[in-house]
Formats: sequence, C-alpha cells, structure tokens
Amino acid sequence: MSTRHFLSLYDLTRDELLRVLRRATELKELRARGQRPQIFQHRVLAMIFEKASTRTRVSFEAAMAESGGSSIFLSPADTQLGRGEPVEDTARVLSRMCDAVMARTVAHDTIERLAAAADVPVINALTDRLHPCQVLADLQTFFEHRGDIAGRKVAWIGDGNNMCNTYVEAAQIFGFELAIATPREFQPRVEDYLRGEARLLLTQDPHAAVAGADLVVTDVWISMGHESEAAARLECFKGYQVNAKLMSKAKPDALFMHCLPAHRGEEVSAEVLDHPQSVVWDEAGNRLHAQKALLDFLLNG
Ligand code: CP
Ligand code: NVA
Repeated sequence: MSTRHFLSLYDLTRDELLRVLRRATELKELRARGQRPQIFQHRVLAMIFEKASTRTRVSFEAAMAESGGSSIFLSPADTQLGRGEPVEDTARVLSRMCDAVMARTVAHDTIERLAAAADVPVINALTDRLHPCQVLADLQTFFEHRGDIAGRKVAWIGDGNNMCNTYVEAAQIFGFELAIATPREFQPRVEDYLRGEARLLLTQDPHAAVAGADLVVTDVWISMGHESEAAARLECFKGYQVNAKLMSKAKPDALFMHCLPAHRGEEVSAEVLDHPQSVVWDEAGNRLHAQKALLDFLLNG
C-alpha cells in the first residue's frame, strides 16, 4: 500500500478522522491517569520548520518523547535546505533515516513536493494554504465540550487564511454549517477547498456570520509572512474583532476558539479570550493528543 500522508484533512476519510479523534481523547484520558503508552518506541520524527512555532513544535516533540520515540528539529538556517538542497533530495534522505516527517513550510507546494518524494508519512504542520493538525485539535475540543459537530453552526471571523481554508474542508467532511465573515479582499477561495456540497455562507458582516453560532473562531490578522502588510491589514480588519458584543449574537453557550498565538485587542478582546466560554487552552493542549493519535494512525495503522 502506498504511504499515507496528512497534508490536508481530505487525506483521511471521515471515518478515519473520527477514529483519530476518538483515539486522541482516549490517549488524553490515559495520560490524565498517569499512563503514557509507549506507542512510538524507537521511532524518529524529523521536523522541518521554515517558520516560527511554539505549540506545534512542543506538541510533536512531547508526543514523540513521552511515547518512547524521539524527534529532530530541522530549520533551514541549520540544514542544507537553506543552502539550496532540493526538498525532494531531502525527502529521500530523511525517508532512509526517520519514520515520519513533519513540515511547516511557507509554500504549500513545498510540502507537496516533499510528500511526493518521501517513502514515509509526511504531516502538514502549517503552510500558506492549510493547517490541518490545528483543526484536528479544534474538532477534538468541540467534540469533548459539545458532542458531534454535524449540523452545528460555526462562524469564522477575520482573515480568510490557512485556518479558514481548513475549516472549509472540515465543514464539508463533518457536515457543519460554516459562516465566514471577512473583508471582501480577504475572502477565502472556497472552491479550492471543496469537494462537493457544503453549507457555507460568505459575508462581510461579522454579526450575520455569528448569529446563532455554536462556535466562533478567529485567528491573527497578520499571519506569518504578511508582516509587511501589517498597517493596511490592521485598518482593513478593524470591524472584525471578536468581542463581547459580537459573541452576544451567538448561541448563549457558544464556544470561542483561536489557534493561538492571539493578539488581545486586535482580532479578539481580552474579555472574550479569557472568558469561560473560550476553550483556547484546551484547544492548544489537544494538539498533543490529536497529533499523537494521528502519528499512531500513520505509523501503527
Ligand atoms: N497554533 C499553532 O500552530 O501555534 P504555533 O505557531 O505556536 O505552532
Ligand atoms: N494563520 C496563522 C496561524 C498561526 C498558527 C499563520 O499562518 O501565521
């Protein structure tokens, strides 16, 4: 059978994703009872980071370390990747030394080339287009707090970025309604992320998007790589802050999520981020369990 990768949520079937999510919660419960199954004994994960990271790096490293395996952090600055060695050659070499490769690349095309040349599973740890590991953790968090997400309403507010694109994929796979409110010039190209019918609303009005939502999600207005557009973006996104007034339009028990890092006072008010309906710390913590379950699926079947 050909090597399975995880570049997009579509790389696993809905049933496989549900299995991973159930396993994530199971591993989390075991860990809470002091049990850390040694499911990656003697396995090695290579981790390529072309961009900064706190949560992704720590959660993958911790997942490997506490399950009996290990990981190697590779930045272009310290490897031959930064001196022009083709990503395909890097993939062939890493495939002979490591059991899986995790990569955070600037361009999505880079991780696709990496996966095409690799003989071991390649995991997308964020690209300019998608962030599927984060949305796995978001789904786990929703399931744990509210049960099935099918038929629920999710509001995405702010930038139509890599996280937003991944929510479009998730809406299609898991059958939830997704209302996306962005300024016109930052609307996502949803057609690139759909493989059939999905219940989507694209609007410029955050209040319309949030109306009756079960979950409100936002992300930074200036994603990594867009720093030079900071002033123009801050101006354009001004009306898109998730604050108490906006949250009051959602269901009374609506959850709030943000993949973090957050900028209090920009895309989210401190009041919302630090409110009990905000589950951002569970969401961040679930990166560990969701990725452990994903690695278990890819490495152990
Ligand atoms: N949410 C997320 O991926 O965070 P890091 O950039 O810190 O890895
Ligand atoms: N959209 C953000 C997510 C960071 C985890 C970025 O790409 O910088």
